[in-house]
Amino acid sequence: MKALVYQGPGQKDWIEKQKPELEKPTDVIVKVTKTTICGTDLHILKGDVPAVTPGRTLGHEGVGVVESVGSAVQNFKPGDAVLISCVTSCGKCANCKRQLYAHCSDGGWILGHLIDGTQAEYVRIPHGDNSLYPIPQGSDEEALVMLSDIMPTGLEIGVQYGRVKPGDTVAIVGAGPVGMSVLLTAQFYSPGRIVMIDMDASRLELARQFGATDTVQVGAEDPVEKIMEWTEGLGVDVAIEAVGVPATFDICQKIVSAGGNIANVGVHGKPVELHIEELWIKNINISMGLVSTNTTPMLLKTLRGGKVDPSKLVTHRFKLDEILEAYEVFGNAAREKAMKVILAA
Ligand SMILES: NC(=O)c1ccc[n+]([C@@H]2O[C@H](COP(=O)([O-])OP(=O)(O)OC[C@H]3O[C@@H](n4cnc5c(N)ncnc54)[C@H](O)[C@@H]3O)[C@@H](O)[C@H]2O)c1
Ligand SMILES: [Zn+2]
Ligand SMILES: [Zn+2]
Repeated sequence: MKALVYQGPGQKDWIEKQKPELEKPTDVIVKVTKTTICGTDLHILKGDVPAVTPGRTLGHEGVGVVESVGSAVQNFKPGDAVLISCVTSCGKCANCKRQLYAHCSDGGWILGHLIDGTQAEYVRIPHGDNSLYPIPQGSDEEALVMLSDIMPTGLEIGVQYGRVKPGDTVAIVGAGPVGMSVLLTAQFYSPGRIVMIDMDASRLELARQFGATDTVQVGAEDPVEKIMEWTEGLGVDVAIEAVGVPATFDICQKIVSAGGNIANVGVHGKPVELHIEELWIKNINISMGLVSTNTTPMLLKTLRGGKVDPSKLVTHRFKLDEILEAYEVFGNAAREKAMKVILAA
């Protein structure tokens, strides 16, 4: 079979590789029908995630059809259509028991990281019963691919950890696929105002189409000044960081109101300066974490009920074997006006 393989910093190849086989009774082999590329894959390719070793197949998102199941798998059989979660979980360990699948003792984010991932014709999913979700007949597969990672990330780490409530003023810093997923899922809770902050004018335009009430273009406008002007000096109820650099965390700590929440979603590679000398008196909460995808069943229901349409995040489509071209487009997202790319087998 063919797979997109990490070959060391800056190097990737679409090469022939051995088809995965069942290794444990709880494994499921899935034939990938649709997958995508995540910003995290670009981080890996830069060499920022040293746990990923050369030879690793990348990708942690996708949908497919069950090819074979191990003897202990009860929920799936060959031919079933499935959604692959970016987080693998046994469902039995202490952390899984409290739905903290991100910290499963025999799972977590391992796909396309510690084991071979979904940017391939076939993928082995450990603990298939708990790490796959059945897809109803006739579902929009492109929308479902957004439910592998970015939609649960936006909902869990941005919206739920940020405790978004009806009427709230919410600011989202970063209008990439994750920030956009925060924007879409925040609307479940009817915030009064949602401000999107980014430097990319075309992403901000898209954010307005997706429900942002206001936008601030970093570089042309000062986000802190703008927010303070709009909120009469109070700041926002929820400030959500969806970039992963010190400058954007700093915006969040400057715009959060008394009693508010800072929800950090971005993956940081460097320390940030926490202004505790200004924040201690403001009765705020700061949260952060890795997605657990425990909200996937809820997201599947909102999708089925037409309450959210994540397929609008898809801007480009390719065949699976055009994946190198897709990386080129996704890797130059601003120039290409790309948000999410779909690769179809
Ligand atoms: N916590 C989790 O479980 C989890 C899961 C998935 C992704 N992430 C992280 O979420 C973050 C966002 O992911 P993404 O795929 O949307 O990334 P992305 O790179 O596509 O989007 C980031 C956006 O931030 C904007 N930006 C960059 N610097 C800025 C600045 N100084 N001010 C304002 N905007 C700025 C960019 O223009 C871009 O639109 C990443 O750090 C990613 O690793 C976290
Ligand atoms: Zn991802
Ligand atoms: Zn577990």
